[in-house]
Amino acid sequence: MASPPDTSKTIKLERYNSYIRRLQLTKLLHSSSKLLFRATILIALVLIIVFTLNHPPLSDSSTTNPSDVGGVGGSIHHHSFLSTSLFSSSFSVGGGSWEKQVRHSATPRRPNGFSVLVTGAGGFIGSHCSLALKKRGDGVLGLDNFNSYYDPSLKRSRQKLLQKHEVFIVEGDLNDNALLTKLFDVVPFTHVLHLAAQAGVRYAMQNPQSYVASNIAGFVNLLEVCKTVNPQPSIVWASSSSVYGLNTQVPFSEMDRTDQPASLYAATKKAGEEIAHTYNHIYGLALTGLRFFTVYGPWGRPDMAYFFFTKDMLQGKKIDVYQTQDEKEVARDFTYIDDVVKGCLGALDTAEKSTGSGGKKKGPAQLRVYNLGNTSPVPVGRLVSILENLLNKKAKKHVIKMPRNGDVPYTHANVSLAYKDFGYKPSTDLATGLRKFVKWYMSYYGIDTRVKKESKLFNQHPDESGA
Ligand SMILES: NC(=O)c1ccc[n+]([C@@H]2O[C@H](COP(=O)([O-])OP(=O)(O)OC[C@H]3O[C@@H](n4cnc5c(N)ncnc54)[C@H](O)[C@@H]3O)[C@@H](O)[C@H]2O)c1
Repeated sequence: MASPPDTSKTIKLERYNSYIRRLQLTKLLHSSSKLLFRATILIALVLIIVFTLNHPPLSDSSTTNPSDVGGVGGSIHHHSFLSTSLFSSSFSVGGGSWEKQVRHSATPRRPNGFSVLVTGAGGFIGSHCSLALKKRGDGVLGLDNFNSYYDPSLKRSRQKLLQKHEVFIVEGDLNDNALLTKLFDVVPFTHVLHLAAQAGVRYAMQNPQSYVASNIAGFVNLLEVCKTVNPQPSIVWASSSSVYGLNTQVPFSEMDRTDQPASLYAATKKAGEEIAHTYNHIYGLALTGLRFFTVYGPWGRPDMAYFFFTKDMLQGKKIDVYQTQDEKEVARDFTYIDDVVKGCLGALDTAEKSTGSGGKKKGPAQLRVYNLGNTSPVPVGRLVSILENLLNKKAKKHVIKMPRNGDVPYTHANVSLAYKDFGYKPSTDLATGLRKFVKWYMSYYGIDTRVKKESKLFNQHPDESGA
């Protein structure tokens, strides 16, 4: 009898083969998943690079410090990843909450109301003008880079105040072309009130580039965008009394010479007036320059004399009171903020439409320059005695010769042109205006008239000129 065939060897062989097959399959699977993983990473990297190159940052860093601004179009754009990604995300949604806010803020609430882009809305004059425009029913959108030339927390407080009145401030820099273009895409602004600038006469000796970056490059960038959009807006912008420089003809009239600036600040404002002429001439932009004279009042600028004298006197500190080289008193045509706001609104109301379209001029356009002053210069000594009265404090005056830092000894405005064209008539004397300022100051810094707290004050870039 034949014995049954021995199958144990065949079975073992088959098992071994199947084990080898499984092993190969696992290896294959393992290596292909590794490949897939690497390919995914690679694709993701390529996508990130392509996206970054095609979508440059649209808003500037919130903390552009003038001292960091290295040059025109250079290191101006300090950009935080956070601000880029936030901004881009509302962008990519297209008509996201950012756009909604922009539109809501800029929509007029009165018939034939304006839609105004206010640059420098976080600043002293910009915040007051934004509120006044909003209150009368115009749409207002602010733009400000909240730089730290002086305490940014004051700018943030102004921003909060504007927020309460539904004025939105976009955080960004004048030099950010993509941002400005986007703003005009979202809103067909009828007017631009351009107040953003590097202010202050003395600080120009410390950080000249910040004046070039904001007052020249930033202004040109804004005008470049305004000339291209359709319809072109009418533009009212802040020049300065400092353009009169070494002019000795008083009171200063718009007809006087302005080709002898005494500071780089003044030179950049004068350059602005010439640049305005060019854009008016070539592209038909309607432009009005306003030469402000030492503007003061509540929510004012901490780098200006009336402000830091108040702070120093309350703290019992010595104050430097300047004399001219020939030992005369320095005097300023101090102008109260409410008067200046009326002047700005008057200039906006009488601004004609720009005449260009598609970047081309279609006819002659309006080009104007006005003094906005108070018409009555007050010696700085008198400013100090008014403050002494209001604060009930004797000032520790240190009278010294004015250093050669760009300040001029005397300013005095002739405002008859602004009166003729839009009824500008300043009505606040220095004592009345300073009383309002001191009241605001005490309340803002939480100072009891008897208990003078060392508050959140700061010591930055003193500037007496009111530039
Ligand atoms: N206050 C005065 O006495 C006076 C006098 C003459 C002229 N001016 C001019 O009036 C305008 C307003 O002055 P102010 O006293 O309100 O000054 P301000 O410094 O309080 O306001 C200017 C605002 O512009 C912003 N800003 C500056 N550079 C910017 C940039 N590149 N991009 C975006 N925002 C920027 C600042 O953060 C600031 O909030 C300025 O152009 C100033 O030169 C003022």
